[in-house]
Amino acid sequence: MARSPQTRVSEYRKPIGGPGRRWCLLLLLVFLLNACGKDSDRPVETTRAGDPGRGRQIYAANCVACHNPDSSRDGSLGPAIKGSSQELLEARILRAAYPPGYTPKRNTNVMPAQPYLKSAIPDLAAFLR
Ligand code: HEC
Repeated sequence: MARSPQTRVSEYRKPIGGPGRRWCLLLLLVFLLNACGKDSDRPVETTRAGDPGRGRQIYAANCVACHNPDSSRDGSLGPAIKGSSQELLEARILRAAYPPGYTPKRNTNVMPAQPYLKSAIPDLAAFLR
């Protein structure tokens, strides 16, 4: 049966979306998850000198919700962390853990791990020094 021209026009005008778009989003998600996985498999670059300026920005964006903007003072939730070693930052930020033998300032377990900050650890350490 021949279709009328009107039907064809409305087919062209079908909004982009539906299953096609869902596949795109799924692929994007898989790509992002994969990218994250790869980053956390890589060892922390301990050889790179940290950049305290970048560390300050990362601290402001990710830590001051709980820690004090002045890292030598206690914050709303988190303790003062000025002088934290790179080893401590790595354990805390990547695994929400502590280096072996370290006595935590608090024995609560409020702070979540933020493994996506892995590449920023040398910068945070330089800023908190
Ligand atoms: C959701 C709130 C929150 C955020 C965000 C947060 N922290 Fe914490 N942090 C805490 C709390 C609370 C503690 C005390 C231990 C606990 O309860 O987990 C802590 C403990 C720590 C410690 C261990 C202190 C010690 O010597 O015992 C370090 C180091 C630390 N945080 C660094 C950071 C850095 C760096 C960031 C940003 C990348 C950050 N935290 C983001 C809440 C937070």
